[in-house]
Parts: sequence; C-alpha cells; structure tokens
Amino acid sequence: MKKIYSTLLLVLLLVPFSCQQTTETVALLEKAEGVIAQNGMVVTAHPLATKVGLDILKKGGNAYDAAIAVQYALAVVLPKAGNIGGGGFMISRSANGEKFALDFREKAPAAAGRDMYLDENEEVIPDLSTKGHKAAGVPGTVAGMDEMYKKFGTLPFADIIQPSIDLAANGFELTDYEASLLNRFQEDFLKLNIDTIFLVREEEYKAGEQIQYTELAETLSRIRDNGRDGFYKGETAALISREMTRGEGLISLEDLENYQAQWREPLEGNYKGIYTIVSMPPSSSGGVALLQLLEGSEPYNFKELGLNSVQSVHYMTELQRRVYADRSTHMGDMDFYEVPLGMLLDTTYIDNRNASISADTATPSQQIKEGKVDRIESFETTHFSIVDKEGNAVSITTTLNSYYGCKVYVAGAGFFLNNEMDDFSSKPGVPNQFGLVGSEANSIQPGKRMLSSMTPTIVEKNGELLMVVGTPGGSTIITNVYQVVLNVLEHGLNMQEAVNAKKMHSQWLPDRVVLEQGMLDSLQMNQLREMGHDLYEIEQIGRVEAILVREDGSLEGAADTTRTGDAAALGY
Ligand code: DON
Repeated sequence: MKKIYSTLLLVLLLVPFSCQQTTETVALLEKAEGVIAQNGMVVTAHPLATKVGLDILKKGGNAYDAAIAVQYALAVVLPKAGNIGGGGFMISRSANGEKFALDFREKAPAAAGRDMYLDENEEVIPDLSTKGHKAAGVPGTVAGMDEMYKKFGTLPFADIIQPSIDLAANGFELTDYEASLLNRFQEDFLKLNIDTIFLVREEEYKAGEQIQYTELAETLSRIRDNGRDGFYKGETAALISREMTRGEGLISLEDLENYQAQWREPLEGNYKGIYTIVSMPPSSSGGVALLQLLEGSEPYNFKELGLNSVQSVHYMTELQRRVYADRSTHMGDMDFYEVPLGMLLDTTYIDNRNASISADTATPSQQIKEGKVDRIESFETTHFSIVDKEGNAVSITTTLNSYYGCKVYVAGAGFFLNNEMDDFSSKPGVPNQFGLVGSEANSIQPGKRMLSSMTPTIVEKNGELLMVVGTPGGSTIITNVYQVVLNVLEHGLNMQEAVNAKKMHSQWLPDRVVLEQGMLDSLQMNQLREMGHDLYEIEQIGRVEAILVREDGSLEGAADTTRTGDAAALGY
C-alpha cells in the first residue's frame, strides 16, 4: 500500500553490516515461551491479582468481569500503581468483533487553572505538580469500572469485588518488590501526609510478611454496596474532601460527584493490509502515536533490517522523534482541544513528514527546550491483559502516575491519590517528569483531562483477535508497545520473546536514543554514534503484559518476568 523509496532500497544494499549485527543480536535473545492455555488467560503485574482474575474466568465470568476484579485487586496488592485513587484507559474487543474504548483518566478539579504550578515570575514551582495534595486530579477508576460493569458485567458485582475486599481485610504476603518500594518511600509518606499513616514505621518491610489494609477494605465494601456512589458520594467522598481541605488540595465534593468516565471511539489503523491496530484516542496520545509509528514503518522492511540491528534502531529513532514532536504540539484532551486526528493519521501527511529521514544520518531534534529525563526508568503504572473463553479481550493500563501517586494517603479511606496533574503542560516548553514538553493543547483547564501516553492496544489479524498488549513506562509506553507489535508482526517472535526482547526509546526532546543495557554491543553503538545519535543506556524499559492468540487458537500469556517486578500469567 505504501510506496517503497528507491533511494532507501539502494542504501540498504550498501549497508550489509546491519544484517550481520542482526544475527548476533538475535542470537542473544534466548528462546522463551509464555504460559499456554486454551480457554482463558490473565496477565498482570502481580500474581495475586492474576489469580483473582483467573478465578473469575473459571467461575464463568467474562473478560470484563475479570478485568474489573483485577483492577480492584491491584488497588490492594500493588498500591504503588494499582489504584482507586487514579485512572486509566481500556481498549476491548468483544467476541463478536466489536471494539470499545473507555477513558477513565483523571480530570483537573474545577478550581485548577493554567498557571497553578507557576510562581510570581512565571517559573514552574518544583514538585508542586508531583507531590502532595495539589498534584492530584479527580480520580476516574471507580467510575470507569462502574461503566464497564454496567455495559458488560455478567457476574454479580459483589462477587467481582469481594476477593479484593478479602485480600485487604485478611491480609496477604508482601512481595520483595512491594516491600522494597514501601521502604524506599517512607520519607515521602511521612512528609506529605497530615497524619502519620499506618504504612510509616521504623522497622523495614520484608518480603513474606503479612500486610492488611483495613480502611481500604471498608472503602471497597462501600463501593461493593453502593457502586460508584460508594466512592464519589457519602463517606469516601467526605474523607477525600477532608483530606483536600487539610492539605490545601483542590478536589471538591462537586468534582467527585461530577466525574464521568467517557466511552470513546477506538482508533483503528491498518498495518500492511493484514493487521488492524486498535488503540486509545486522546486523552491518551498513545493510539495516535502508535498508529503514526506503524504507518511510518511500512516503507521500511524491518523484517530484513532485523531485530534490534543498527539500521532498525536508527529508523525507529527517526520515526519516533517526528511522532513525539507532533505529540507535544497537537495532542490534548479532545473534549477541550480540537486534536487534528485526520491530519495526524493521514498517510500522505505521515509520508511527507518521514520523507526527510536519511538512511545514515540522524536528524537533530529542534532545540526548543532541552527536555530533562531523569526518571525514565520508572515502572509506576501497571498494565493487564485478559482473554476469556468466548474470545472477549480486554486491555487496561491504569496508574497513579508516580509511585504511590502524590504520596497522599486519604486518611480513613486507605488509598493513595494520583499525581496525574503533572501530565499537563505546566508551562509551554517546560518538560514534565518524563521529559515531555507540551503546549496549549495540553494546558491546564478545569475539568480537562491531562494528556497520557498510555497505550492499551489490541491487534487483529485478518479480522480475528491476535494480540492484547500494553505497558507502564511514562513516555516510553508508546515506543515499547510499538516494538512489541513489530517484534511479533515483523520479526516473527512469539509473545514471550517479544516481551523479553530489549527495547529502545527516543522522544524528540531530549535529542537522544535511550537503549536498554545489552540491547546493542559497542560496535553497533559506535555505528549509531557515527550517524549522529546521542546514546544513553538504562537498565530497563517498561514492563509489558501481553497475550497472543497462536495459530492453533491457543493463548500465549507473556508476563514480563525479566524486568523488576512480580508479573504473572495464568491460563486455564
Ligand atoms: O499517563 C501517562 O502517560 C503517565 N501518567 C504514565 C505514568 C507511567 O507510566 C509511570 N511509570 N511507569
């Protein structure tokens, strides 16, 4: 469908070294296979949440029931990202082929304003959008789960949420990872809360110890008994409002009552005439950016260029820098800003934009403002993927933004609030914690949703379900999902190999290529430097939890167990 540039072909013939390197890189990728099952699969970032989801499927619940159960379970067992105080996005494909997109992203409170994080000199006040009460947006998760349940739920809601209430009330074993995070953030918990919260203590948390969240169990019970009103009204709302008053936060009782999750038209794009990519429209930038990247990838024969070769890293970088430049200028909440979706996804527009890509020279990103990415190795968000025996598929990415959000624990209600307000552009051109710069499209306005990079995605092959995928990772989410999709579609990897494979990331500003350690050897890295790329190695990028439908119809669930964390896939 897209023309192949003859100059590109010529240059490819002249760079046989890239293929040699490819063979070596592929050799470094160990053979791996995820969990195989016939009837249903749940992949999440925590084994207890995975088990809750699987139990719901085995009880006869559908993928939506299981997803709601998992979302609540993650709020208990993975409080650094799992949440009721945050928000997220859902992409689904029902067994009959219908697709849905649900936006339960947080919103700016009514009292928020475009300059709320600036001082009298119009400089951004450090930490104000990331720590403490003012950083919190109006949570969307409970409204999102309520919408999903009303549309698709089959089991009684009480049965879906009860396992999470039981986990919170009766306690469960801390994993090594969660224990280490609780230890790491003690100082913030102490500093940013009005009362000392029960999570703050002298003694170190240890893997294997039991932890109970009694107040959270009570909040979840109110949600069980009253649905969304158990959160947005009554006692829970009163506790959030009291917390806001004490900490000079902005979320009011009215903000809570008015919050609505939004059904949106899922974005669909075609890849090479065979695959349909279904992903999230704004207020996430993820779907647009992913479709732009895949459309832009078509002229390049990534299969031949090879997995993680010098040439494929070069082209991916060039595509990514152009896409992230569009993201920073044109994307924001569509309810407030007219995102030029038609233009951004137009094949000719994408062709024209990528026509300046050279085969052997990096294009310098315009130095409008140097982005600063000091926390790119973060895994605070969490993604889960579920397929049930009917073939319903659900892909949800959900977050508090940073680890434990703004670190404010709603006293008496037992959960952390997000710091999603940092995803707005506090000031044009000034980067947020992920180094992302923004403009008017993503300025703060009351009731507006802050732009996200979360990219819950479903891929079809010839109209049939093929893959359910997503990841945490802030700005790296989009590029990570893009590479996993290419790894399967172009490089022929199975799901686990595609997840395990090393990833790269670039985002226009700062003008650099981030590589996972071990992705390329020193010779390859030097070749990229000679092309003009500034390279920066980090330990890990993202943590994908994904499911692939194999040719025989069975499911391969791939939890990312190669990177930090506790992911688990279970099927039956
Ligand atoms: O919505 C977003 O794009 C960010 N709030 C996601 C944050 C994230 O993924 C953090 N860590 N992995």
